[in-house]
Amino acid sequence: MRLILFGAPGVGKGTQARKITLKAGIPQISTGDILRQQIRSGSPLGQKAKEFTDQGNLVPDELILDIIRDRLGKPDCAPGFILDGFPRTVAQAEGLEQLLGEMESQLDAVIALEVGDEAIVQRLSSRRVCRSCGEVYNVLLEEIPKVCRHCGEAAIEQRADDREETIRHRLGVFNRQTAPLLDFYRERGLLKSIDGDRAVEDVHQELMGLLA
Ligand code: AP5
Repeated sequence: MRLILFGAPGVGKGTQARKITLKAGIPQISTGDILRQQIRSGSPLGQKAKEFTDQGNLVPDELILDIIRDRLGKPDCAPGFILDGFPRTVAQAEGLEQLLGEMESQLDAVIALEVGDEAIVQRLSSRRVCRSCGEVYNVLLEEIPKVCRHCGEAAIEQRADDREETIRHRLGVFNRQTAPLLDFYRERGLLKSIDGDRAVEDVHQELMGLLA
């Protein structure tokens, strides 16, 4: 299964991708997670990316397409993958099409999660993440532990781009630069949409039903 989980910041792409990965055994590929790893390691790519991510702007297409080309070439992607947060521009979607063509492969589905802007602002300003392993929490859904339930590190914090002003900027960037991909994938007959403003498990069940 080769799948794109599509949607604005905070609709729950990462949360749902991790659940599908556990069931289907195919990797979640989050360009946001890859960029944050690069930023933490202080690599040249990370240093270049940080100035964009901190402001809630998109990292240039060429950098992102290099990351994806490298990642999709890894053996664990052979049985399939879930793209989370990629593509985000028409140029990236075209680059992906070209890359998959070279690999004699193609997408099976693009599933768009839909959540209203105010619910997104509330979710993201309440999100906490483990700086060490990326585990995601939300103060509205649970009590935040002192150490990460996944890796045991005392490294749970708020992402730099999860402040209200930056969240609203990211939503504007999504509407201008990423939302046009809905038509791109609708025209290719790949797009399916679901209401993401429900309990995590309800969204997951509908998603799995669409993929069956
Ligand atoms: P990225 O990390 O991809 O951020 P994003 O798309 O803004 O998405 P998020 O991770 O914020 O949200 P999500 O939809 O995964 O939601 P989550 O499951 O965590 O990108 C960050 C930055 O990197 C970008 O701004 C850009 O600068 C750069 N970048 C990345 N990819 C790029 C690309 N392709 N091109 C250019 N630049 C790129 O859920 C959010 C919260 O809600 C969590 O706390 C969760 O617990 C909670 N939650 C989830 N589901 C539910 C539910 N059903 N009900 C209630 N709460 C829920």
